[in-house]
Amino acid sequence: MSSFSKWVFGLCILGILACGVVKCSVTFDRKALIINGQRRILISGSIHYPRSTPEMWEDLISKAKDGGLDVIETYVFWNVHEPSPGNVPLSLSLSLKNGYMLIFELGLTFAQSGISGLDCKAADFSLTMSCVDSGFPVWLKYVPGISFRTDNEPFKMAMKGFTEKIVDMMKAGDLYESQGGPIILSQIENEYGPQAKKLGNPGHRYMTWAAKMAVGLDTGVPWVMCKEDDAPDPVINSCNGFYCDAFTPNKPYKPAIWTEAWSGWFTEFGGPIYERPVKDLAFSVAKFIQNGGSFVNYYMYHGGTNFGRSAGGPFITTSYDYDAPLDEYGLIRQPKYGHLKELHKAVKLCEKALVSADPTVTSLGNLQQAHVYSSKSGDCAAFLSNYDTNSTAKVMFDNMHYILPPWSISILPDCKTVAFNTAKVEVQTSRLDMLPSNSKMSSWETYNEDLNSSGDGSSFSAVGLLEQINVTRDASDYLWYTTSVDVDSSESSLHGGELPTLLIQSAGHTLHVFVNGELCGSGYGTREKRRFTFRGEINLCAGSNRISLLSVAVGLPNGGGHFETYVTGVQPPIVLQGLDRGKLDLSSVKWTYKVGLKGETMKLVSPNSVASVDWAKASSLVAQKDHPLAWHKTYFDTPDGDEPLALDMSTMGKGELWVNGESLGRYWTEYAAGNCNGCSYAGVYKPPKCQIGCGKPTQRWYHLPRSWLKPKRNLLVLFEELGGDPKGITLVKRSVTTVCADVTEYHPKIHIFHQVCQLRNSFGNLRKLSARNMPCSDIIRHLKEGKQRCSVTVSNSNFVKDPCPNVFKRLSVEAICAPQK
Ligand SMILES: *[C@@H]1O[C@H](CO)[C@@H](O)[C@H](O)[C@H]1NC(C)=O
Ligand SMILES: *[C@@H]1O[C@H](CO)[C@@H](O)[C@H](O)[C@H]1NC(C)=O
Ligand SMILES: *[C@@H]1O[C@H](CO)[C@@H](O)[C@H](O)[C@H]1NC(C)=O
Repeated sequence: MSSFSKWVFGLCILGILACGVVKCSVTFDRKALIINGQRRILISGSIHYPRSTPEMWEDLISKAKDGGLDVIETYVFWNVHEPSPGNVPLSLSLSLKNGYMLIFELGLTFAQSGISGLDCKAADFSLTMSCVDSGFPVWLKYVPGISFRTDNEPFKMAMKGFTEKIVDMMKAGDLYESQGGPIILSQIENEYGPQAKKLGNPGHRYMTWAAKMAVGLDTGVPWVMCKEDDAPDPVINSCNGFYCDAFTPNKPYKPAIWTEAWSGWFTEFGGPIYERPVKDLAFSVAKFIQNGGSFVNYYMYHGGTNFGRSAGGPFITTSYDYDAPLDEYGLIRQPKYGHLKELHKAVKLCEKALVSADPTVTSLGNLQQAHVYSSKSGDCAAFLSNYDTNSTAKVMFDNMHYILPPWSISILPDCKTVAFNTAKVEVQTSRLDMLPSNSKMSSWETYNEDLNSSGDGSSFSAVGLLEQINVTRDASDYLWYTTSVDVDSSESSLHGGELPTLLIQSAGHTLHVFVNGELCGSGYGTREKRRFTFRGEINLCAGSNRISLLSVAVGLPNGGGHFETYVTGVQPPIVLQGLDRGKLDLSSVKWTYKVGLKGETMKLVSPNSVASVDWAKASSLVAQKDHPLAWHKTYFDTPDGDEPLALDMSTMGKGELWVNGESLGRYWTEYAAGNCNGCSYAGVYKPPKCQIGCGKPTQRWYHLPRSWLKPKRNLLVLFEELGGDPKGITLVKRSVTTVCADVTEYHPKIHIFHQVCQLRNSFGNLRKLSARNMPCSDIIRHLKEGKQRCSVTVSNSNFVKDPCPNVFKRLSVEAICAPQK
């Protein structure tokens, strides 16, 4: 499964509340979606089924439900479901690995969690599968005459064919709410508006066609298009973004729907991790609701993992954690999860007022407002907001005083009592750590990849440079380009003269350059700049010299249009400079091509065929440690317990790894560049604002699902491109080890602090206090210690001197729990 991941087409499934005698139906008006006759304020979260394992789904869904979600949203991934043209399985009763079954399973899980005995299955928890971001299958690129995402017949035919098949399957399973099932909403295309603008008329025609085609499928539930201002009726245009409070639908009779409320951001190899403070996320959601929004979907609620050769896009890590409320491994991330749960509770308390009244907006100060929803039947809900990023505001509302922290909204479900403030995090904070497991790797063995790629029957020759994906059709990340250069024995570089230089252009993504079987260098693109130039001096010998280029793809494009024009691999010019005869242009000479690695052809990763080559024992491994293009294997037993597992790959370079034949994904120990000076939650969020992990490997741990393991002797195989020490690889457990009492942000210039941090003893015996996540770790010495309970006033006076003057810092106080005896 490779990954044109972020696109296009959605089927939203959402199950919903009790319907009783009312015929199951989903409609809408200007206020909200109307489900079985009732307007609803709905909280939804994205969980993409291929980014976890079927064994994880039930737990993820039940945690989502506990977190206050009404709906689950998922994309339907085109590349997963139609791996070759027309090959969409027609029934739901397929293996669990098949996405259809998944949807079916999700639908059932939702249905089961509802109240039985009603006509409509999805009684009190609905699942909305809004399927937006599906990956384009690679074969689509090679349909004759195709042009992606525009008014192009071959593209439209393929898209219609796939959409129809999926919808038919949903109907056959009675999965739409109109049939009593859990799907309440569907989406077609994804963030197409900006692309349509670029294309002009053809873009508009295609968009209009897509809307009409979708509506014509007669699902009985509404369709949405996100980031598509002119979505035609009855399709609802919706908003994606970090904030959507300023969004209004294109018609007064459509509800305000936020299809992607970004909980964080994706990570690229070489970049830092982006966090989004929950205070700001809660603020953005509360602001959307206060302004009349009625449907919020977190993107992501569980981001998960890009297993195998799937990706979120070029250079995106296998971890698709997204700083989501449920972390990559499915564990609850606190305080994000808990704080949002409190928000959802508060919003639900306001639901009746929100759906039955329009807000009255009054000013409470320069940057402060009240939004009041007061219904004829006596329901009243108020939102008091402070948009000031620096100062707490004291406001008067309805003859009462309220304190509003900077950049925050208080929710008053009865127009009097504050049920929730977005900037007051009152839930505990947990820390998720990687702990050693008791499982040891048995000794390692190595097999060196064959560097003489031309000696293989499956290679072929052509004059000039071919586009990589056109040759590989994504059967492998790897493509060999090999040619030879003859050098006379009189060449001056052979007699102490200057070495010649090889210059190679690449359109992406990575390149390893071998001369006569020796690695002489590598080149890398980045997400922002896929194209790069490799330049290196090379040693040639008299006679024929073999130049082998291994070009490596790291994910396929995930946004924009015209994917048919996206190119990867080595491109002209390739030039060898500094020979006695002058410059040699290698762009249009004969090249030999070979798709994939020998180890891939021999299926070395599979337990059935791993023994088909002679592996070198660990004793000879020392010398092999930094050997490029090597396969390594070992065995291990499954550790006790049920914590999620991961492999620590920080001693390795770049490659892919498999356990029992299942691919954990591409690994790459690239160190994160960035600015990790901390951030304030207050003020408009953009990903660069809150970075962590600078100077460390962008991704060190790779999720190993427990369901892929057997108790004993699991086969671990990896392919390493650059070199590294496999003996350093360890199996770790993801654990919740520590609980913070409070986390607060403060500015050292302001010397008055009111916040008191209390350590509660609800997680075991308090052993010691320590401070982390701060630029200045010696703060620990200045915290008061206590056995069962203590309090710390967050103030510079608590420190001997300000440890980091003029730096905005985050103080986090942790309770480290003694092991339970
Ligand atoms: C908040 O502080 C920042 C920098 O300290 C300043 O640039 C900004 O104007 C202030 N905003 C308000 C609303 O006072
Ligand atoms: C590579 O393979 C070809 C074909 O088997 C063979 O003729 C050639 O000698 C090999 N080259 C090296 C360096 O092993
Ligand atoms: C792909 O390869 C075929 C021949 O194998 C060639 O005719 C076609 O032009 C190539 N397409 C692209 C986009 O490179």
